[in-house]
Amino acid sequence: MTNRTFTMIKPDATAKGHTGAILDQIVKAGFTIKAMKWTKLTPDKAGEFYEVHKERPFYSELVQFMSSGPIVAAILEKENAVAEFRKLIGATNPAQADEGTIRKNFATSVGENAVHGSDSDENANIEGNFFFSLLERF
Ligand code: RTP
Ligand code: MG
Repeated sequence: MTNRTFTMIKPDATAKGHTGAILDQIVKAGFTIKAMKWTKLTPDKAGEFYEVHKERPFYSELVQFMSSGPIVAAILEKENAVAEFRKLIGATNPAQADEGTIRKNFATSVGENAVHGSDSDENANIEGNFFFSLLERF
């Protein structure tokens, strides 16, 4: 049975021209793109997206960074998508990410770590709804 996860290619990666290579790695790993858009978050929208981290010391830095440039938002489908995608992106800190993972390949620091991946089926659904209307995914 397939299910879905949600991802963003973050502003550091789009700025460095890694968008195509990251999408290529995602598709080659067996994910199907179910919805996708090139967009830019306002600070308010970035703050809302990462609201769970509101009390964390890095929250304002995270909101500033995530609204600093364009992102790609996408809904992805694969068997066991959430766990499989977290495996593909690697650890939050790229210094601890396994060889061949997206963060190992493209990220530079724990703050600017190239991609987001949902951490549960429930959050994948909430995050997909945050970016895409029913007309934009099927
Ligand atoms: P994400 O939600 O973006 O996929 O990342 P994650 O699950 O691997 O990590 P999470 O704990 O959810 O943190 C969200 C994002 O906040 C930034 N962060 N900065 N400076 C820091 O110590 C720090 N820690 C986290 C990262 O951009 C991280 O991806
Ligand atoms: Mg997270």
